[in-house]
Amino acid sequence: MTKQRLGVCYYPEHWPEAFWDGDARRMREIGLSCVRIGEFAWSRLEPVEGRYDFEWFKRAIDVLAGAGLDIVLGTPTATPPKWLVDKMPDMIALDVHGRARNFGSRRHYCFSYEPYILECERIVAAVAEAFGDHPHVVAWQIDNEYGCHDTVESYSNSARDAFRLWCERKYRDIEALNGAWGNVFWSMELSRFDQIELPNLTVTEANPSHLIDFQRFSSDQLVAFNKRQAEIVRRRSPGRDILHNFMGSFTSFDHFAVGRDLDVVAWDSYPLGFLERGNRDDLFKQRFMRVGDPDFQAFHHDLYRACGRGRWWVMEQQPGAVNWAPWNPLPAESVARLWSFEAFAAGAEVVSYFRWRQAPFAQEQMHEGLLLPNCQPNDSYHVVAKVAQELAKIDARVETRRADVALVFDYESAFAWKIQPQGWNFSYFDIVLNFYEGLRRLGLNIDIAPPTPEALLGRKLIIAPALFSSSEALAQAMEASGAVILLGPRSGSKTQDFQIPPELPPGAFRNLVGISVCRVESLRPGGSIMVDPAADTMFQCWREIVAAGDAAEIVLRCRDGEPALTRRERFYYLAGLPNDFLRDAILRGLSEEAGLAIRELPAHIRIRDNGPMRYVFNYGEQDFDISAIAGDARLLLGERLLAPCGVAVFNWER
Ligand code: GAL
Repeated sequence: MTKQRLGVCYYPEHWPEAFWDGDARRMREIGLSCVRIGEFAWSRLEPVEGRYDFEWFKRAIDVLAGAGLDIVLGTPTATPPKWLVDKMPDMIALDVHGRARNFGSRRHYCFSYEPYILECERIVAAVAEAFGDHPHVVAWQIDNEYGCHDTVESYSNSARDAFRLWCERKYRDIEALNGAWGNVFWSMELSRFDQIELPNLTVTEANPSHLIDFQRFSSDQLVAFNKRQAEIVRRRSPGRDILHNFMGSFTSFDHFAVGRDLDVVAWDSYPLGFLERGNRDDLFKQRFMRVGDPDFQAFHHDLYRACGRGRWWVMEQQPGAVNWAPWNPLPAESVARLWSFEAFAAGAEVVSYFRWRQAPFAQEQMHEGLLLPNCQPNDSYHVVAKVAQELAKIDARVETRRADVALVFDYESAFAWKIQPQGWNFSYFDIVLNFYEGLRRLGLNIDIAPPTPEALLGRKLIIAPALFSSSEALAQAMEASGAVILLGPRSGSKTQDFQIPPELPPGAFRNLVGISVCRVESLRPGGSIMVDPAADTMFQCWREIVAAGDAAEIVLRCRDGEPALTRRERFYYLAGLPNDFLRDAILRGLSEEAGLAIRELPAHIRIRDNGPMRYVFNYGEQDFDISAIAGDARLLLGERLLAPCGVAVFNWER
């Protein structure tokens, strides 16, 4: 079982060389054992075309290694230097309005521009050749945060040409494409693949089938880019882990597909930045302003654990204020400790803080680090030292077990409902997160699962809202799983080609749930369809009119008489987006039917098991007595009267 440990992100190129030694020593002193470097250093690694300067980098690696730190090397391809952009100006991506995304920040490249990809391969091969067998290099991070700053899609000529080829490979015959896209509509028919344009700059909305294929293509280009680098590193640095740092609430490419080429999936967790940027209402944001949404981070821990082979890290953990959200409050005292243990409770191998020292210059000078720009410790420095001691004290190790509950997450569904929300606030991501919150408030451990037969095996409860398309294979896997299953709304409502299924939604799930969906409506904010006024349960944002066949039973009706929840055997269909009361009532009922032990938790308390270790977290502002949760177990960490931002750990199997 892997020991859980701490790391930090460090930029030796930002500081005088005289600092490095003291920095490395202090990292070790507070209990960090791992450091990531290099991911933005291309202009220093190759200041002039073809002239590598690796000496300083080698010295930095040796200093860090000399202090006993393990090193994660970043490939520097997210920040191509100016000389390279000048040499190949067409490497620049074009945005949806056809404008160049110029040099002067980062991620200024197009995933379809082959000469740039070859340059990436060259620099990556050189760095991997030079440092791949260094005994302290334990892992490689490929590039940095794919898609950050809206950089998955590019509307360049090279993207257009590559998209044409992609379509040709997929459809082979232009008539097949015309049929799949429904191009007879508005005379959009094509006679050759080289007539295909990119779906931007159209007069009104582009064809959804065209748009989803372009999104799939853009995702595939990114996956291929990552794979090419990963292969180069793997050959030159055998035995090292290859990872990438994904982002929060980001759905523009298929992370499961990228994960197939990684050993470890990592993500960057900025709880306060995400809260401020997210779609929760102001009251919620005010309430959790200094601690973050109690479920948002945990959701991503579970999502990214599912994206690879189960091994995962937090590559960048927020320790202080960030610079990029609309508002950037200081975190509550010691909440970085709670965030770290939430990750460890979900099975993270490493939690690594961003960043070691606050930079006094350039774009991120308002972003805090563990140290102030003058090298004095910031608050989080002491918090991290405490986390390191506590990790050692409880001898924390990864021991994730398969959860009884699977919540399905599907990137194609995120593509689809962004293309055709039908109501402005219909957000696939928020819908799945909302069900996650409901399940967590019942004290359940949850696995996020891709919509594949294997991921559904051995579950007791499966929740799959708003799954864009259905398939016979998935329907059969659901049937075979033996689980209690909740589908809807919008599940199976399109074919893979983005058309309404011939037999109406939910497509191949029809026989499973025994209903068909005849009409749908979206509801403006404030609009609702009442289910039970006494219980304050209602649909908001979305509702469907379903026809229930003989095999289906109506479990709940809306006040207007239309079915709200139907069932056929173990298979339920929900005909709208529930408010929290309705969601909770349904999830409670289904969990009981599935035989799960549930425990209703207050809005600010969460629990999670890592093997036999049960963690309790207090996101509230008052002490919370955990006696009812912990029973007479001996606490390994924390107190029975759990303080705000507190973490308690005990062994629940003993
Ligand atoms: C991440 C990124 C880092 C840094 C950080 C600031 O998105 O990977 O390089 O910019 O955000 O919060």
